[in-house]
Amino acid sequence: MTYALFSSSANRYDWHTPPLHYQHDHAFVLSRLPSPPCRVLDVGCGTGVFLEKALAAGFEVTGIDASAEMVSIASGRLGAERVRIAQMEELAEFASYDAIVSLSWSFNYVRSLADGKKTLDRFFQALRPNGHLVLQIVHAPNATGVLNEDREPGPEGQPNDVLFLYRFEQVPEHSNELRAQYVYGCKSSNELVFEEHLLGAADARQVAAEAATVGFEDIEVLDSWRGELLCRSVSAFLLAKRP
Ligand SMILES: C[S@@+](CC[C@H](N)C(=O)[O-])C[C@H]1O[C@@H](n2cnc3c(N)ncnc32)[C@H](O)[C@@H]1O
Repeated sequence: MTYALFSSSANRYDWHTPPLHYQHDHAFVLSRLPSPPCRVLDVGCGTGVFLEKALAAGFEVTGIDASAEMVSIASGRLGAERVRIAQMEELAEFASYDAIVSLSWSFNYVRSLADGKKTLDRFFQALRPNGHLVLQIVHAPNATGVLNEDREPGPEGQPNDVLFLYRFEQVPEHSNELRAQYVYGCKSSNELVFEEHLLGAADARQVAAEAATVGFEDIEVLDSWRGELLCRSVSAFLLAKRP
């Protein structure tokens, strides 16, 4: 599935989702990785914002993303040698990384929990012994269906030029799926995009159970970067280690 937000509108991604929004998440993820220098893979790295911080912190970084447009933006940030176009479901590396991260729900672009389990197994194989896994994933049972609104400055700093609306709902009868609806608008460029994304493996506790079956240990499911156990959040952190 090709989504406009990750393809034709990819060069607007950092307008409606500014890097600053994720500073606490990224600081938390960096704090949970093994000490640099070590090899970190970001799966679904998007525009490369997290990897840019990891690189500055001394990690050896690699990013993969299914979208050529996102990879092109990330390679502008990081250098083309550090990012490549690839589907996470086809990752075929063995004992290559000390840590694998996948943030802002990239992991949930798997179609189902069964595909999620196969992808977790690929992550397991790609990690070295004692390797760390950090996933920021959807927890659909906590989705409220409430419409949220962000307003951001435009490309020239125009106040309130960019509008981003989003709403998350658990799909009725499918506790493992989340419907995410997005509207991106920009007044100065006269753009308007609406699209709906269907996210899979959308129950963080079930993903944690599958991670255990593929061999991960020390599994934690947290509510946010603050570190409390999952309770109210629609966006959970799953941390685990390969023994
Ligand atoms: C919501 S964005 C998050 C990007 C980035 N992780 C961040 O935190 O800003 C989801 C990303 O996952 C990528 N993606 C979707 N399906 C994928 C797949 N099967 N394999 C790899 N990347 C995928 C999209 O192209 C997009 O860049």
